[in-house]
Amino acid sequence: MTGGMLGMLDELTRLRDEAVARIEAASTLDDVEAARVAYLGRKGALKEATARLAELPADQRPGAGKAANEVKTAIHNALAARLQIIERVRAQTARPAYDITLPGTRRPMGREHPLRRAAAELIEVFARLGFEVAEGPEVELEYYNFEALNIPAEHASRDSFDTFYLEGDVVLRSHTSPVQIRVMEQRQPPIRIVAPGRVYRPDTPDATHSPVFHQIEGLAVGEDVTFADLKACLTLAMRELFGPQTEIRFRPSFFPFTEPSAEVDVYAEIGGQRRWLELLGAGMVHPKVFEAVGYDPERYTGFAFGMGIDRIALLKYGIPDIRLLLDNDVRFLEQL
Ligand code: FA5
Repeated sequence: MTGGMLGMLDELTRLRDEAVARIEAASTLDDVEAARVAYLGRKGALKEATARLAELPADQRPGAGKAANEVKTAIHNALAARLQIIERVRAQTARPAYDITLPGTRRPMGREHPLRRAAAELIEVFARLGFEVAEGPEVELEYYNFEALNIPAEHASRDSFDTFYLEGDVVLRSHTSPVQIRVMEQRQPPIRIVAPGRVYRPDTPDATHSPVFHQIEGLAVGEDVTFADLKACLTLAMRELFGPQTEIRFRPSFFPFTEPSAEVDVYAEIGGQRRWLELLGAGMVHPKVFEAVGYDPERYTGFAFGMGIDRIALLKYGIPDIRLLLDNDVRFLEQL
């Protein structure tokens, strides 16, 4: 073992090489810190070596001290360089918040329900014929659902419009005709409105009947409105909806709130079979209805109609059973 100054310089060189090698091999911040403590710490290798400087003869001390300082600087530089490299590697390999090359999460696309689509088409067809949209409540007073429409209590004609009673004189409306009354109470002729909405009846469900279904009401009132206007209006509307070749027929019928009255059928394929399907009721507004809203029946005439939106959806989209519309089965809805 070499003593004195030369031994000291050798030892410092060895210490430096060892420290630098260890620092350069460090792959984590913790490794770097451990190396710093081992060489430059209060009880580190360099401290121990410099403590022995005092043992050297006085004339050798400055040279050895300078060498020790250089070793310290070299170790410092090695530490700083290594920290920088580790930081850079970490920044490069850190995952970005998201990977833009991955396929996105696809959300299933929604689409308009066939009932809404049919209603929207009807509204559009009638808008082109000059009708605007009006609305009324689904929870209705008996008066609007029956009496004002010339359907007296205890009268047999109530059966056709039987409904669910909530309490007292509050019912679920069984047709959209009450909206006629509400509109006429609020406004003076001329009137041309359509009123789409949900209605309720204690009907037994089958392929063409549902206890909850939808109607669109039409009402036109003026000074010279005739049955010819009604026929023209409905024929145009049905042909707009189902195509110019569409066959429709008017059958004489009875409604307490129209006179004369008709039922209107469309010839179409339903469940693989071509047949007539009743789509709507219509007629000339009954004078008693005008009286109920304070219109002069001598001065005004009008026509009204009410059609089943669900049945129109069946025809238009070739749906075999009305119940499919309300089952909410996405597999069915996706086919349309
Ligand atoms: C009425 O509801 C009258 N308010 C229509 C009316 C308005 C006539 C204005 C004159 C003037 P009706 O009960 O026939 O009439 O029903 C009209 C349409 O609703 C029927 O033609 C049919 O398309 C549809 N409908 C009736 N009951 C059901 C049901 N249970 N399920 C599905 N659609 C139905």
